[in-house]
Amino acid sequence: MNATIETIMSRRSIRSYQDRPIPEEDLQQIIECGIYAPSSRNKQEWHLTVITNKEKIDEVNKMAIEGMVRFGINVDEGAHIFYHAPCVIVLSSKIGGFSEVNIGCVIENIAIAAKSLGYGSCIIGQTRYLYHKAVKIDIDRILKIPEGFEHDLAICLGYPKGKAPAAKPRREKVVDYIY
Ligand SMILES: Cc1cc2nc3c(=O)[nH]c(=O)nc-3n(C[C@H](O)[C@H](O)[C@H](O)COP(=O)(O)O)c2cc1C
Repeated sequence: MNATIETIMSRRSIRSYQDRPIPEEDLQQIIECGIYAPSSRNKQEWHLTVITNKEKIDEVNKMAIEGMVRFGINVDEGAHIFYHAPCVIVLSSKIGGFSEVNIGCVIENIAIAAKSLGYGSCIIGQTRYLYHKAVKIDIDRILKIPEGFEHDLAICLGYPKGKAPAAKPRREKVVDYIY
């Protein structure tokens, strides 16, 4: 197994983090890998909001949890959608086209780059609950999402705490071959 395949195969969603920041140089490299993702017609119509301020991360968490509760989702006391990770990257894309697919490419690059450098990550879709009330404009302003762009997903990153979980079993019979 080469190093790239080893990294892909050993990546897991990490839901527990050490309380220490990712060094700036590593963070920049991870971000760079994100934006080196392929994109439909090379439009690169994505936007990344990198949050490393603990209070801001907690604030976004609180707003998302508020949204989840409004949607009738049972949220455990003290739950944190970013698992107290020291870094959260919020991804947005220009509305239309293959925007979500492009973001999928960016986020996976980020997860793999982070893993290759020894960091854990977890993709977070629950940030969509931020948009629970008609205040899109406020959330977009807080998250610095450009006009005409829409939030897709977030990813939290940091030094993992504890042992990574085992790989989840894969669904079978998902591949057909045409020879
Ligand atoms: C689009 C997407 C949204 C996700 N949203 C969340 C989330 O909000 N919270 C969370 O803990 N994990 C989230 N995950 C992580 C998945 O639960 C995880 O990838 C899956 O259980 C497989 O585990 P693994 O990543 O360790 O292989 C998300 C993953 C994807 C691809």
